[in-house]
Amino acid sequence: MGAWAEWGPAGLRWTDSSLWRTCLVPVLRRCRISTCAVAVGISFFLVMCLFYLAEEPKQEAHEQALPEEEIPVTLLIWTYPFDEYRQLPDCLEYQVRGCTLTDNRSAYPLADAVLIHHSEIAVDDADLPPEPRPGAQKWIWMNYESPSNTYKLWHFEGMFNLTMSYRMDSDIFLPYGYLVPQARANALSKSSRSTRPRDQFIAWVISNWSAAHARVTFYHKLRRFVRIDVFGGAGHPLPRGNGTVVRLLKGYMFYLALENSQHTDYITEKLWNALMAGAVPVVLGPSRRNYERFLPPEAFIHVDDFPTVKKLAQYLLKLWRDPIRMRQHLDWRGGYSLHQPKFWDEHYCTACSAVRRTRGQRDAVKHLARWFFS
Ligand SMILES: *[C@@H]1O[C@H](CO)[C@@H](O)[C@H](O)[C@H]1NC(C)=O
Ligand SMILES: *[C@@H]1O[C@H](CO)[C@@H](O)[C@H](O)[C@H]1NC(C)=O
Ligand SMILES: *[C@@H]1O[C@H](CO)[C@@H](O)[C@H](O)[C@H]1NC(C)=O
Ligand SMILES: *[C@@H]1O[C@H](CO)[C@@H](O)[C@H](O)[C@H]1NC(C)=O
Repeated sequence: MGAWAEWGPAGLRWTDSSLWRTCLVPVLRRCRISTCAVAVGISFFLVMCLFYLAEEPKQEAHEQALPEEEIPVTLLIWTYPFDEYRQLPDCLEYQVRGCTLTDNRSAYPLADAVLIHHSEIAVDDADLPPEPRPGAQKWIWMNYESPSNTYKLWHFEGMFNLTMSYRMDSDIFLPYGYLVPQARANALSKSSRSTRPRDQFIAWVISNWSAAHARVTFYHKLRRFVRIDVFGGAGHPLPRGNGTVVRLLKGYMFYLALENSQHTDYITEKLWNALMAGAVPVVLGPSRRNYERFLPPEAFIHVDDFPTVKKLAQYLLKLWRDPIRMRQHLDWRGGYSLHQPKFWDEHYCTACSAVRRTRGQRDAVKHLARWFFS
């Protein structure tokens, strides 16, 4: 696309001096001799020009065009999310070629795009990149917090070119996790058919305990009917290290995947960790219909499925005693594998490849706050 745009106007310009000499001048000379010669001349001229147009651009295009997926892209990472320094990845790990990631702000004038994570510019008042921005450069707004925990959004109206978040209707959509349909049995089905029986009932891992959260109110109601093992800040300490939540949940039948706030598409690692471990998630978040955009309907139990918390508790206890019925919530797993993108490596590389995909396109995010809160 880029290469064609470059050769197009130059190759077709009629004032081009070589074109004038090779085609037009000979024609004009013959014109005086006879009408017959004029006809021959014009035919010659047309054939020459057709050759010129057909041959020349092809060669140039051949020299300039890289495969679309290898056109070089430079992406400047403006701040490290939450100010935590991490070494930048090599995007080949994610099958993204020709991508240069940099955190060096002196690359700003050359960068095809700047990736700006919301929290630092809003909460820590980090500077925005300088204006005016280089012509075709895009500023990407990236945020993985829910609207309830996203501040000063209205300060940034009309400033960005692309959005990147967990919302499906983002310009660059990368959720906390997603299922990939598989033809053959896979890791996801194995983890639920583990030989080790699940002898624990229901767990909840909670780091930010706030009485203002709907999830805490829900917990207080549910614990009147069933025993809940609580881990994290407010409960038993969690073992340190990677993947400990998933390992812990492998012993449980159910997991409380309760989001800190309820918003469109805001479905976090809480849900995906439970599925990874083969525990059935009991979810509190957006509507059931919203979850069903990400998951088969039987893959989760929604708190809204029951008129009361007591009825929900009775259903969980029924499943506990009835393995056949429980299987209805697990059998779907045979058809899928699960992917949880790695923060933030995969996000950077996904953004880079989106910048390439939208090259030459003008984009503006006009109503950032209205969209994100909708
Ligand atoms: C950033 O890039 C400039 C220009 O290429 C270079 O002089 C400088 O050393 C780089 N800074 C860091 C921290 O790599
Ligand atoms: C914990 O929740 C409170 C209330 O919603 C919120 O203000 C705060 O930012 C949260 N803290 C963290 C670390 O997420
Ligand atoms: C956790 O994973 C990260 C990245 O994969 C790795 O760098 C780190 O060493 C791991 N930490 C532990 C405690 O295993
Ligand atoms: C990016 O957005 C800004 C502000 O809306 C706009 O001025 C600029 O033309 C946009 N650039 C591109 C490449 O879309």
